[in-house]
Amino acid sequence: MTRSFEKVGVVGLGTMGAGIAEVFARAGLTVVGVEADHEALGRGRGNLESSTGRALAKGRLSEAEQAEILGRITLTTSLEDLADADLVIEAIPEIMDFKRTLFTELDRICEPSAVLATNTSSLSVTEIAATTGRPGRVVGMHFFNPAPVMKLVEVVHTVVTEDGLAEEVADLARRLGKAPVSVGDRAGFVVNRLLLTYLNHAAVMLENGLATREGIDTAMKLGVGVPMGPFALLDLIGLDTSYEVMCVLFQETRDRRHAPAPILRELVTAGLLGRKSGAGFYNGEAPPTPPAAGKPTVTSVAVLGEGAEEFAARLGDAGFKATTTQAATDATEDADVVVALSHTPVIELAARLPHPRRLVGLHLVGEKLAEVASTVLTSPEATCAVEGLAKIVGRVPVHCKDRAEFVVDALLYPYLNDAVRMYDSGYATMDDIDAAMRLGCGYPAGPFETIDTLGLETVRDGLRALYAEYRDPAFAPAPLLDQLVTAGVRSIRGLS
Ligand SMILES: NC(=O)c1ccc[n+]([C@@H]2O[C@H](COP(=O)([O-])OP(=O)(O)OC[C@H]3O[C@@H](n4cnc5c(N)ncnc54)[C@H](O)[C@@H]3O)[C@@H](O)[C@H]2O)c1
Repeated sequence: MTRSFEKVGVVGLGTMGAGIAEVFARAGLTVVGVEADHEALGRGRGNLESSTGRALAKGRLSEAEQAEILGRITLTTSLEDLADADLVIEAIPEIMDFKRTLFTELDRICEPSAVLATNTSSLSVTEIAATTGRPGRVVGMHFFNPAPVMKLVEVVHTVVTEDGLAEEVADLARRLGKAPVSVGDRAGFVVNRLLLTYLNHAAVMLENGLATREGIDTAMKLGVGVPMGPFALLDLIGLDTSYEVMCVLFQETRDRRHAPAPILRELVTAGLLGRKSGAGFYNGEAPPTPPAAGKPTVTSVAVLGEGAEEFAARLGDAGFKATTTQAATDATEDADVVVALSHTPVIELAARLPHPRRLVGLHLVGEKLAEVASTVLTSPEATCAVEGLAKIVGRVPVHCKDRAEFVVDALLYPYLNDAVRMYDSGYATMDDIDAAMRLGCGYPAGPFETIDTLGLETVRDGLRALYAEYRDPAFAPAPLLDQLVTAGVRSIRGLS
């Protein structure tokens, strides 16, 4: 018999719980929201009011609808008020001991038929379920931030989940207007295993001084089309939650790539948790825009590398004396600056020039971004001039060090590689992974769609370059990717 979910409990009304309560109430369900104490309950009420208030301000909700939604939500500090709930979902901090204690309590209070769900991002649902006398009726129901906006819900089943229950919970998610993806119980599930690993990589990159936080955020937004750069997104998710998720991932995999970046721990210890505490990587809501590059003072430019002709022509149209050259030493003698397009590492070229201080690497990504890479020999004046030239050809410059694949590709390719490994391990299908990343993160395309767009060989070769630079086994191309390139296969999605 199909269960009917009419009354739900939401425990914890922080970043996620308030949004989840709103989602259930919007769909017409009766909601009981539980917080730890009266002070937290006041904050939870504030979270609910400001979230529905934003929808009201944007015209997505009328005042009457807002009142109706809030009217369906009862707030309390007593778990006993959940005694007659059909389903309870918890959204308390990502700490196993907290969750275990809570589920033991919920198991005592709720009807034996009630379903208990966790919104955990990474913890073992199996372990949480095992603390109850109803492990078959405990599932993961993983919403994404902000819950009222993001379409995806990962429905996590364990080896002991009752037959049919995951599908019933998926039906409930559909009733809420969400798109469920059914997954097994593995740390981070689909989205966070890929997403948080990429965000953590960005934090490591920041610590290594490859680029600034604004630069990395701008590069990813303009270069890949993601709705938020990694640091703005870490602030939205919460640095404490992100740190805990990385710890759980590392504990399971012992993969260096999953070791939380030390800067995360430092910020969390300092109480800088992101938006929820008012400051994290950024101090306000919106990341400041990077300072504009000055007008270039150079008059002559030598351009070499892939796309040199077109770039030089654009500069010529803008009044510069621009020449192209295939060899690093030709025609560069008299130029004020030398632009090496899409060449990594730039230092190899610079070392061959009589005036290496004038050489700057430039990587044009998509239609809007230009990564400007200076070497250890490049002069600040040359870097500044090339940033100005990038603006003249209509690009936003982002300065970075001369490292393999610069910023965007260095972050993107390992993420794509992780997705290939995930698929190859049999954990999820390509369609599910693509859908999960699009719907859970608002990405313009899923990883397999992106691999096909970029070309398998490009991604494989980029990974090889990253591996050669950093010697991190995680950057070595996944064997499946390598084999597909060797076999001449052009579409990875053609396999599914
Ligand atoms: N932040 C995200 O982007 C995100 C996304 C998806 C899932 N999650 C998961 O959702 C869960 C909550 O994360 P969050 O970011 O909303 O955390 P949060 O710190 O913003 O909110 C947690 C809330 O739980 C309350 N709380 C703590 N102990 C409680 C108890 N025993 N009873 C009732 N309330 C209690 C706290 O007062 C707080 O309001 C975590 O498991 C996290 O991994 C987070």
